Amino acid sequence: MEAIYLRQLAVGPMRNFAYLVGGCASRDCVVIDPGWDARSLLEAAAQDGRVIRAVALTHGHFDHVGGVKDLLAQAQIPVLAYKGDVAALGESCKTVRALDDGDTFDAGGLELRCLHTPGHTPGSLCLLAQGQLFTGDTLFIDCCGRTDLPGSDPAAMHRSLRRLAALPGATVVWPGHDYGPRPSAPLSAILKMNPFLAALTPQEFLRLGV
Ligand SMILES: [Fe+2]
Repeated sequence: MEAIYLRQLAVGPMRNFAYLVGGCASRDCVVIDPGWDARSLLEAAAQDGRVIRAVALTHGHFDHVGGVKDLLAQAQIPVLAYKGDVAALGESCKTVRALDDGDTFDAGGLELRCLHTPGHTPGSLCLLAQGQLFTGDTLFIDCCGRTDLPGSDPAAMHRSLRRLAALPGATVVWPGHDYGPRPSAPLSAILKMNPFLAALTPQEFLRLGV
C-alpha cells in the first residue's frame, strides 16, 4: 500500500485547516480546501518538494474555496467537488470535475474516495484515503458543522454522521476547522467526546441543537 504524504495547514482568520495530500513516492499532491491565501499553500508544497496537481473541495463555502482562483491562475488544474455543490463555485471556476458518492480520484499516487455527507450543505463530502478522513465542515473533533445555514439539513447531517461513525475506529479525522481540543483524532476517541457523532437517533441529535 502506498504510504501517505499528509500536511495540515492552518489558514486564514477563521481557524480553517487546508491539507496537502499525496502518495509518498510521488512529487505530486492535491490540496484539500484551499481557503484564503493560495500563496502559503504553494509555498508549503514547494518546501516539501511537491507540486499541487488538483484541488479537492469538501463544500463550496467561501472559507474553503477562497484560494481556488489564485491556484487556477498559476495552472489550469482540476477542481474536484461534489456535484451538488459545483454551482456554488461560480462562473470563474472552469475546471470543475463533479464527484458522486463512491467516486475515487488519484492524488499523487494515492487513491482518495468521496463520501457524500450532506447536512452542512447539500453537497458536502468527506474524503477517505488509507484510514485518513478529511471531513470539512461535516465533523469536527468535539462538534459538527452548522445546520442552520441556507441549504443545511439537520436530519441529513445526522444520517451523514451515523455513516461516519460506522467507519473503523482507527480512522483518523482531519477536520476543516481547528475548533476542537486537538487538530485531529481517531474516530474512536471522537465518539467519546463528541455528542453529535455519538447521537444514535435523530431525536437525540436534534435535541443537541446545531
Ligand atoms: Fe462551511
